[in-house]
Amino acid sequence: MILIVEGSAGTTGDKHAVMNAGDALLVPQRRPHGFVGLEPNGFWGLSIQFDSRGLYEDIEDPWATFLADEKSAELAGSPIEQLFKKNEEYMERFDKHRLFVLARNGLLNNPQTRRRFLDCFQVWSNHFQKMVLNRVVTLQNPLFEELAWLHLVEELGHNRDLAKSRSDLKPVFDPILEAVCSWFPSKIGMLSDLEKVVLVHLVVEASALSFTSTCKPAMETSGTKNHFDSHKAGDEAHVQMGYAFLRQVTSADWPRLFDIQRQGWAMLMAVMGRVADLVVHTSGQVDDAQPQPRQDAQHVVEPVAARAKTSTPRKDTPYVVEPIDVVGEPHAKSRAPHKTSEEWTADRVAEKQISAAE
Ligand SMILES: [Fe+2]
Ligand SMILES: [Fe+2]
Repeated sequence: MILIVEGSAGTTGDKHAVMNAGDALLVPQRRPHGFVGLEPNGFWGLSIQFDSRGLYEDIEDPWATFLADEKSAELAGSPIEQLFKKNEEYMERFDKHRLFVLARNGLLNNPQTRRRFLDCFQVWSNHFQKMVLNRVVTLQNPLFEELAWLHLVEELGHNRDLAKSRSDLKPVFDPILEAVCSWFPSKIGMLSDLEKVVLVHLVVEASALSFTSTCKPAMETSGTKNHFDSHKAGDEAHVQMGYAFLRQVTSADWPRLFDIQRQGWAMLMAVMGRVADLVVHTSGQVDDAQPQPRQDAQHVVEPVAARAKTSTPRKDTPYVVEPIDVVGEPHAKSRAPHKTSEEWTADRVAEKQISAAE
């Protein structure tokens, strides 16, 4: 949002208007916008950004794309060059993921948070391994064999090494994390060999560059230090082998390659988003030393219909569902006495009669 404090400006981009002191302009995310100072003295204004970091906080790495850059990207020759250029944009965006912003701000320096993060990372690492294996299993074209096998051999068992490097590994099963991670091994089996190269090398391996370099400093005293150290150089090589292979491609179904690139990056953003949620929202509550019955209880929500009968509806917060406190209540014990099947049937008949009468 831009507030004009003094003078006047003309806006460029999506909206063309003259703004004077006291005017405000709200720019939606990723929309083109700009300003030109008007006579006699241009303008002074405030730029307010609702993000985890200011657009120009790091002047070497502004969170903005300038029109001249976009134009040159549009004009950049061959489809493969466009694919690479697009990949750089995705990599830049991925590097600004909130998980990494949090990590750079010290999220992983806390031992408990770091442990939870590594537990979640293990889930991703296991699925990554299955993706690499499934790529080879579903190979179709012998020309792609060398690349796929070389990558498999270099990656084989890294998930198991990662698990072995931890004495405090706690398996995580989170349905959302499981779903987004398992997209990769399942999707790879349905792709052409060329699409597989894009997904594995341009997307997943390229994402590891940000992941490893951001998380590595917090792992210096952890048993996983080796994993992060060795992957820094290893993943760079795995990205480059994909780029080198794709440079030799002369014809391809380019739209499909752009599609899998876009989908792959979007799914990775979702994976990291879920890891961030799980680390931030549960690491403060988990204590491995003692089982925490509240963990399960906090996720139980009373069905809306049942709540309507038992409590007064809250008109001010209609979308809030409150957890029911089931701590200490034995499972076999119910608050209401058990009904026989005949009693349930009789109740239903009565309910139908009432609604028919209404
Ligand atoms: Fe690896
Ligand atoms: Fe790798």
